[in-house]
Amino acid sequence: MNTIKACIFDLDGVIVDTAVYHYKAWKRLANSLGFDFTEHQNEQLKGVSRVRSLQLILGWGGVTKTEAEQEQLATQKNNWYMEMVNQMKPEEILPGAKEFLTTCRAVGLKTALGSASKNSMTILEKIGITDMFDAVIDGNKVSKAKPDPEVFLAGAQALGVLPEECVVFEDAIAGVEAAVAGDMKVVGIGSSDVLKGANLVIRGLDEMTLDKLYKL
Ligand code: G6P
Ligand code: MG
Repeated sequence: MNTIKACIFDLDGVIVDTAVYHYKAWKRLANSLGFDFTEHQNEQLKGVSRVRSLQLILGWGGVTKTEAEQEQLATQKNNWYMEMVNQMKPEEILPGAKEFLTTCRAVGLKTALGSASKNSMTILEKIGITDMFDAVIDGNKVSKAKPDPEVFLAGAQALGVLPEECVVFEDAIAGVEAAVAGDMKVVGIGSSDVLKGANLVIRGLDEMTLDKLYKL
C-alpha cells in the first residue's frame, strides 16, 4: 500500500535553473576581488547557503575578509543576483515542473517548497506558481542548512503529514542527504553517479510520473 501523501520540492535546479544567475553574480564578485571563479566551482555551491558559499569562494581565492566585510559582499552578490531574478519570466520554469505539480495536486497530494534560498518567494512570484504550493519553507524560515533535514521536516509539519509520507525532489547532494536524514524518500534530479543516496534519479521533472512516485 502506498502511503505517500506529499511532495516537497527544492527550488534551484528542480523547478528553475537559477544556478546560472548565481554563477554570474558570484563570478562578478570574485572578479571584483581580483580572482576568477569557474563553473566547476559553482557546481559545488548547489544547495549551499549564501554565507557559506561566500566563505568557500573567498577560500578558493585565498582572500580573508572580516565578518562585516563578508556581510557587505554577500549583500552585493545578492543585489546582482536579484537584478537577474527580477527579469525572470514564467517560461523559465524547468520542463515538466508545472505539469508534475498539477498532477500531484489533482490526485490530492500536498505540495511544499523546501529551499535554502531566501529569495524563494520572489522567484515563485516571477514564474507565477506561488499558488501551486500548500506550504513554502525557505531560507528565511530555517536556521540549519542542508544536509540538516530541518527545511524538509518543517515542510512536512506545515503540511500536516509525517516525514515517511513525503517524497523530496532534490538536485544537490546535501539536499538528498537532508531528505534521507529526515526519513523521507528522495528523487534525485541530475546524475545517479552524483546523487547516490536517492531512491530514484531522473534528469528532470519531465521524466516523473505518479507511477514512479508510488513505486518508490
Ligand atoms: C540554493 C542554491 C544555492 C544558493 C542558496 C541560497 O540552495 O542552490 O546556490 O546559494 O539557495 O540562495 P539565496 O537566494 O538565499 O542566496
Ligand atoms: Mg537545488
